[in-house]
Amino acid sequence: MKNELRFYDDIKDWDFSMIEYTEENLTDWNLYKLLNDCASPKCKILDLGTGGGEKVLKNFPIVKEIIATDFSKEMINTANENLAKTERKDITFKQMDNLNMTTPNNYFDIVVARHTCIDANGIYKTLKIGGKLLLRGVDKLDCWQLKKLYGKGQAFKDDKPISLIDYEAILDAGFKKVELVPIHIREYYKTKEDLLALLLKTPILSNFSESEIEENKYDDNDEINMNLLDKYIEENTSKKGILLIRRYYGITAVK
Ligand SMILES: C[S@@+](CC[C@H](N)C(=O)[O-])C[C@H]1O[C@@H](n2cnc3c(N)ncnc32)[C@H](O)[C@@H]1O
Repeated sequence: MKNELRFYDDIKDWDFSMIEYTEENLTDWNLYKLLNDCASPKCKILDLGTGGGEKVLKNFPIVKEIIATDFSKEMINTANENLAKTERKDITFKQMDNLNMTTPNNYFDIVVARHTCIDANGIYKTLKIGGKLLLRGVDKLDCWQLKKLYGKGQAFKDDKPISLIDYEAILDAGFKKVELVPIHIREYYKTKEDLLALLLKTPILSNFSESEIEENKYDDNDEINMNLLDKYIEENTSKKGILLIRRYYGITAVK
């Protein structure tokens, strides 16, 4: 099992454009719509765990200042390469650990955290009074059938869903108007190769938080069992493709 930083350093980007799939979104909760609705041209935004900057560059409005951070140097390198292909002047990519934030106090109007870990107290400190937190996360029951088949996966052994851990931490940090929304999405992958590409690129079948994993331990033999994958595909294929049931959550909160 790879250490989380090593995993993201190896991947280097968060681009899924090569994977063919369709999706049915069963929940009306859109992070980027909320962001675009509340952002003004004068505002300052922090994007935590930005990856290769793909989402910021595509979905964030042009504002006074955006700082987009990631703890992976490789992700930040990719993000700067992606930035250089655009005309945007409002975005700066910077290496930072979400769990040891070094951004200024009372500085940002909006903090975005999409599919990454958070320190609610750090986010609270760096937001201005009245500033907003917009968070979307991957929950314990995401891809549950697949994780059950493999007997492992992201948050598989956690007692408490990550959504509740984040929700309670955000309340405890002092945020107001904290709202938690479960997000249900059905994804249909076109071929086995498309699903496999997703599993190889994401930590769906990994668990970085299991206690038996030592810090910095790196095991290259962490392969996807193909017999189990074939079994999953056999049981979950319809005319629409290979079904993967996604369970995300959205949280909005105000300082
Ligand atoms: C699943 S990707 C999401 C990328 C992007 N936010 C998006 O929604 O497409 C998670 C990202 O969070 C970063 N990350 C994970 N743990 C982190 C931490 N403790 N501090 C900073 N970044 C972290 C990873 O390097 C990776 O780029």
